[in-house]
Amino acid sequence: MKLAILGPLSREYEQVRLLEEATKLFDTVSYFPIPQVAVELRDGFDLKYKNKSLLNYDSFLPRIPRSYKTFGTTLLYFLKKAGKPLPIEPSSVIASHNKFLTLVRLVEAGLPVPETHLAIRREVIEKLLKEMDYPLVLKLLYGSKGVGVMFADSEQSAVSVIDALQRFKETIFLERFVEPGNEDIRAYVIGGKVVAAMKRVAKQGERRANIGIGGHGEPYRLSSTEKKLAIRAAEAMGMGICGVDLMPSEDGPVIIEINVNAQFKGLESATQKNIAREILKYVRGLHGKVDG
Ligand SMILES: Nc1ncnc2c1ncn2[C@@H]1O[C@H](COP(=O)(O)OP(=O)(O)OP(=O)(O)O)[C@@H](O)[C@H]1O
Ligand SMILES: [Mg+2]
Repeated sequence: MKLAILGPLSREYEQVRLLEEATKLFDTVSYFPIPQVAVELRDGFDLKYKNKSLLNYDSFLPRIPRSYKTFGTTLLYFLKKAGKPLPIEPSSVIASHNKFLTLVRLVEAGLPVPETHLAIRREVIEKLLKEMDYPLVLKLLYGSKGVGVMFADSEQSAVSVIDALQRFKETIFLERFVEPGNEDIRAYVIGGKVVAAMKRVAKQGERRANIGIGGHGEPYRLSSTEKKLAIRAAEAMGMGICGVDLMPSEDGPVIIEINVNAQFKGLESATQKNIAREILKYVRGLHGKVDG
């Protein structure tokens, strides 16, 4: 069986691990940097990397970074048209990279998310800032790895953050602070099952629990409610592979984010689970299961 991995130009931990495990499970494995693939339209369509057609492959593993979200979605659209099995729905890439759209999808599926408000006009935002509780979370639509998530302890500090962001023409949304904060739970869902989970705890003096900014991960056993939520969230997003971020709260867990391209370096080291292998086993199992 032939596997095509579509990913970024640079090969980081995840790409290296996926290639390593892929060669154990597939006869042929090729890595296609997304920006070097071209869509060809002429008597039908083809996807080409140099002179090679991607349509000769049986299985596909897309790892689409935010910078290629639109082009990546286009590639998935054509792969789907060609009847290829995909671990994620093409539209889920756009929805996942936009944090607000993610919340929209979750709410549509009846899943719990923190109270959130999106507005662009100054007066509308100011009115919201008067009504909301503090601390308040302000998020960029396209932040990642903790960058783009801000906290305001008062209306005054929220206004000053918004002043700066509007100057740079950044769209932000306002989110209720989920108490007690300082930690979140990452559940890695593959093929409708949680294969590993960890709790991430923010470093001292920091409210964001991301590992890249000093947080640490520890293995975590999800409650049955958390497990069900993570699985339903992945399903609502149309993702067979994703990282679901949850936060426990007094009113039960809420989902704060779904990552289509979730990294797993921290999770593999915190849980000793072979996430890369789980991903590839799932992708291999999709072969022959296309239902249109
Ligand atoms: N509503 C909230 N209330 C309290 N803390 C929050 C809230 N939203 C986010 N946080 C904290 O900020 C961290 C980062 O937030 P989030 O997961 O939304 O963005 P991100 O990690 O930058 O995005 P990505 O996971 O795509 O890289 C979370 O791990 C959590 O610790
Ligand atoms: Mg996150």
